Amino acid sequence: MPNSQLIRPLVHALHAYVPGEQPRIKGLIKLNTNENPYPPSPKVLAAVAAAVDGRLRLYPNPTALKLREKLAKLHGCSPENILVGNGSDEVLALAVRGFVEPAQNPAFKFKRTKPSKAVVQYFTPSYSLYPVLAEIQGATKNAVALNPDFSLPGVAELRRGRTWDFNAALTLLTTPNAPGGRGYATADLEKLCQAQRGVVVLDEAYVDFAADHALKLALTLPHVLVARTFSKAYSLCFQRVGYVVGHVELIAALHKIRDSYNVNGLGQIAAEATLDDLKYYRANFKKIIATRDWLTRELAALEFRVLPSQANFILARPPGLPAQDWLQELRDRKILVRWFSAPEVKDYLRITIGTPAEAAVLVAAVRDIRR
Ligand SMILES: Cc1ncc(COP(=O)(O)O)c(C=O)c1O
Repeated sequence: MPNSQLIRPLVHALHAYVPGEQPRIKGLIKLNTNENPYPPSPKVLAAVAAAVDGRLRLYPNPTALKLREKLAKLHGCSPENILVGNGSDEVLALAVRGFVEPAQNPAFKFKRTKPSKAVVQYFTPSYSLYPVLAEIQGATKNAVALNPDFSLPGVAELRRGRTWDFNAALTLLTTPNAPGGRGYATADLEKLCQAQRGVVVLDEAYVDFAADHALKLALTLPHVLVARTFSKAYSLCFQRVGYVVGHVELIAALHKIRDSYNVNGLGQIAAEATLDDLKYYRANFKKIIATRDWLTRELAALEFRVLPSQANFILARPPGLPAQDWLQELRDRKILVRWFSAPEVKDYLRITIGTPAEAAVLVAAVRDIRR
């Protein structure tokens, strides 16, 4: 039997998620995956280095208890309201596995299970992992367009549009939006959450760069979860630590289906030490926001259409050449940004906010390309 027949048809047909490139080119300015340009706090590096010893032979704490205790204190909730994951990507995958039925579930044939139970719903554009997670689960995808300026449609508008499913088993909502960067008011998110009858995950991967956050919705509405990550704001992509906050019943369900030791030990130690030095990181948020605002002004002056951003990246439509050509022109000058082929964003570049020096090199390269 050919090997291809040993693979599930669903996996065969799957369009896998494509992560941003991690090239090793000397002198490259890497502005393509929304990594933080500043290193972790010296205290975090020291804590990780001090933990590299004979302990590596032991399993880590299976529930990341100490980290959950620190997070609970920070957010004013209990450790039972929190699950830590191998990055927030794992948290999102667990939510799909835990709350969404596969569409092929035999129960549907007998109409015992409503079709909405198999629906993963999200806006477009948003995080391109969501459709992949839905496909892996064999779920039904319901992708609904944001307004043309990537603002959030109101509940009445969604009702009129008829394609939004207020009973969807799971709604994934990126806030601030990625790749658009737009922030959403908590009051608007609350109205939408209140109208949903399934689980809503507010994916706040970039929230530390925003004016507002919606954590209170996870602590007041029993069907709402907020996902966060240490990757972006806390310079810890390498260690893969994310978490989700919400009602104990939903969180306990996700604990049941995660891997026994889903968060590696050094990652737990790094994240704990991060929470002990938040002052360091808050200073970095300020620097990144200032660079974002500077770069937005500079690129706008060079005739880029830059969308307002509450994240550590901007989405900008370059003038003249197609965006994909700009991607190559910048790459030729050793600057790596991200381009997505999806129709609603194909005319844009997504540019991660680096250091002020990196932003200045980018602006100089843009001037050179325009010449
Ligand atoms: C919107 C959004 N959510 C979640 C993630 C996942 O982050 P991590 O798995 O590193 O925590 C990303 C990463 O790019 C993202 O853009």
